[in-house]
Amino acid sequence: MTYLRRGELFIEGFSSKGIDVEARDLVKIYKIGRTIEVHALRGVNINIKAGEAVCIMGPSGSGKTTLLNIIGGVDKPTGGQVVVGGVRVHELDEDKLERYRLKTVGYIFQAFNLVPMLTALENVELPMIPLGIHGHSRRRRAEWLLKAVGLGDKLYHKPFELSGGEQQRVAIAVALANDPPLILADEPTAELDIENAMRVIDLLIKLSKESGKTVIVSTHDPRIAIRADRILRMEDGVIKSEHKPVELEEGASLTKLSSLADEVKARLAVAEKQLHELAVKLSRGEISGEHFDKEYLRLKILIEGYKEILASLGH
Ligand SMILES: Nc1ncnc2c1ncn2[C@@H]1O[C@H](COP(=O)(O)OP(=O)(O)OP(=O)(O)O)[C@@H](O)[C@H]1O
Ligand SMILES: [Mg+2]
Repeated sequence: MTYLRRGELFIEGFSSKGIDVEARDLVKIYKIGRTIEVHALRGVNINIKAGEAVCIMGPSGSGKTTLLNIIGGVDKPTGGQVVVGGVRVHELDEDKLERYRLKTVGYIFQAFNLVPMLTALENVELPMIPLGIHGHSRRRRAEWLLKAVGLGDKLYHKPFELSGGEQQRVAIAVALANDPPLILADEPTAELDIENAMRVIDLLIKLSKESGKTVIVSTHDPRIAIRADRILRMEDGVIKSEHKPVELEEGASLTKLSSLADEVKARLAVAEKQLHELAVKLSRGEISGEHFDKEYLRLKILIEGYKEILASLGH
């Protein structure tokens, strides 16, 4: 169920499913003054299916935020196309873009972007107002969302009365207010301690796995990466490579593993085994050097990531 009538809104849950996101030959050139040009995106192609959780990783300055801003309709590309759920976002005029940002995209910015004078509840209600949602519906939905992110006891707190992790969770509730099919999150765990980071990651992954939303997260955090369906690696304004987190072996299903550390250890063991098998295959001449190099790099990145996570978990 989505909107009942103008002004009415279902109160609880998420009903809109995810949508496909496609970018073709995206280019973004920022001009600084008359002479300096920054080539932030140099021809990005992505194809993300409805309901996927995709993680964008890459060094600082590689273009992650620029890409999210263009997909989210916050910034315009210099060239190329962005098609979200069949809508050609790069061609929308300002009015249509505003509606697209309100209804289609839930954007969780790195800086939480909360209005300081308003309570958590009022911040979550804010994006529902331009869609004409009635006051009582707004309030009940905002309450439900804040409870869903674990802040049912902080409804009337203003941002400065909340911790960084709590502010980030309010920002997520704000992004989810209008039940958007597409969730974008820019470094959502950068400022958070482990406990809050894990809550935020769980929430984002659940939105994809349980509610079928399309979720795109830019991050340096390998704890998000291992839970995503795919990892896109950006470098210098292009997608350099694509990885899938190592699949768990049969029998080691997530539900049987009691903690994140167990999950990471299981995935690390699989990746190390695959690396060993790869070396054996190369020595027997069963695979080409080129294939070896590609797979070796992929597994090395994953193994480093898993080790980093274990270290951050105190193992
Ligand atoms: N508004 C702007 N004007 C000029 N240059 C910009 C602007 N925004 C970004 N850039 C430049 O574009 C490039 C890509 O920046 P972007 O913010 O997308 O990188 P990022 O991958 O998100 O980095 P980080 O991991 O540090 O957040 C950088 O060289 C940056 O300096
Ligand atoms: Mg960034």
